[in-house]
Amino acid sequence: MIEYRKMPPVAREQITHLEWKAFIPDQAEPQPPQENPQEEAGMARFGAFDDGRLAAQVNIEDRQAIIRGVEMTFGGIGGVATLPEYRRERLVAGLFRICFEYMHQAGIIFSALAPFSFPFYEKFGYAHAAQMHAYRFASRHLKPVRAPHGITFREFQPENDLEAVMAVQRSMARFGSRVLETRRYLQDNHDKHRYVFERGGTLIGFIEYDFGTSDDGKEQMAAHHTWFSCDECLPALVDLTHRFGSQREWIAWEVDPEIPLEYYITEPGKARRTRDGYMMVRVVDFPEFCRRVRVPLFAAEPVIIRVADPDCPWNEGTWKLTPVSGRLEIEASGREPEIGFDARHLSHALGGQLTANRLHRLGGLPCAADAAERFTRIFPPDSYVTYTGF
Ligand SMILES: CC(C)(COP(=O)(O)OP(=O)(O)OC[C@H]1O[C@@H](n2cnc3c(N)ncnc32)[C@H](O)[C@@H]1OP(=O)(O)O)[C@@H](O)C(=O)NCCC(=O)NCCS
Repeated sequence: MIEYRKMPPVAREQITHLEWKAFIPDQAEPQPPQENPQEEAGMARFGAFDDGRLAAQVNIEDRQAIIRGVEMTFGGIGGVATLPEYRRERLVAGLFRICFEYMHQAGIIFSALAPFSFPFYEKFGYAHAAQMHAYRFASRHLKPVRAPHGITFREFQPENDLEAVMAVQRSMARFGSRVLETRRYLQDNHDKHRYVFERGGTLIGFIEYDFGTSDDGKEQMAAHHTWFSCDECLPALVDLTHRFGSQREWIAWEVDPEIPLEYYITEPGKARRTRDGYMMVRVVDFPEFCRRVRVPLFAAEPVIIRVADPDCPWNEGTWKLTPVSGRLEIEASGREPEIGFDARHLSHALGGQLTANRLHRLGGLPCAADAAERFTRIFPPDSYVTYTGF
């Protein structure tokens, strides 16, 4: 008999054993780490137990995001794992159900994760919602620009710089970057090389580098978290990246799609730019999501939808959505629905990558074109979405 429950942090040995089997089976079994209450803060762990034995787990980590104009806590799913001998017995499916229940009770209305497989998480109502540009180029092809006069850089000091870096990170919302790295991430991870950029004593930029080997065995430097509050900071970021990157033959640099990095690459034809951004999202509490988010002022007409979402039964029903001066009213309706969503299509239409209009034209949302249009005016494309991977 399988029992699903929230785990106390003390199941450490069993967790280490499970994570070994699931994530690093080619290595020797690691020792359980020391208890670290700080690491557990903001984390809820759920386990499927077979006669006291941990057979599968799913973790939920509190994360901050700016979603459709509102800063909110979302549930970051991680550590999804099942012991090999228990796989394909729907243990993770059972765990997701109690995780959704937990998030609902805890007031967490939105969830995101980095998938190993899109179809697997689509089964639980998640939809792809992220977009990033990943550049890779020879370090000699980065223009040796100089930081503009008055902009300086130095190493990041978490104790002094943390709040200012969080503010700069938040300003990236203008590019659509909507998920914030946590303070804890910036305080930890000391293996990263982190720098801040200042002008007149004000912190205006941040970047993080790490050194490693690419999939094709080349030594490369990777740049992440390119955050800046004013455009003048970008040449300064390029200047530092050029200086540091010359230690490696290759540079890999992940940025929001709108950041014009090509401008600084001398041979853009030889640089590789791939579309990255693999995060998936799910709306856990649809009625509350509607009440919280901002909607465009040009959305003026109501639409009636039906939601089928057995994993989150509080989302199910026929709902009338009425935009009123940038806010959305939601009420249960007895009228005939104009659009029927399952959980995955709802997450697609709200996540920003694929609108209801698009889904309709692609054949994924049977409804009248006019209804898809009204829904899309309420939830328009939100295409520059960069859910930070975690
Ligand atoms: C991926 C993993 C967690 C799945 O766990 P599980 O307990 O076997 O999953 P479930 O039995 O609850 O599967 C739920 C559904 O997904 C399907 N499924 C299971 N494993 C799958 C896989 N690897 N790929 C695609 N679908 C899969 C099941 O058939 C089931 O489908 P159904 O709803 O149509 O019946 C497990 O195989 C594992 O631990 N893998 C190694 C670690 C890993 O990759 N974790 C993911 C990190 S993002």
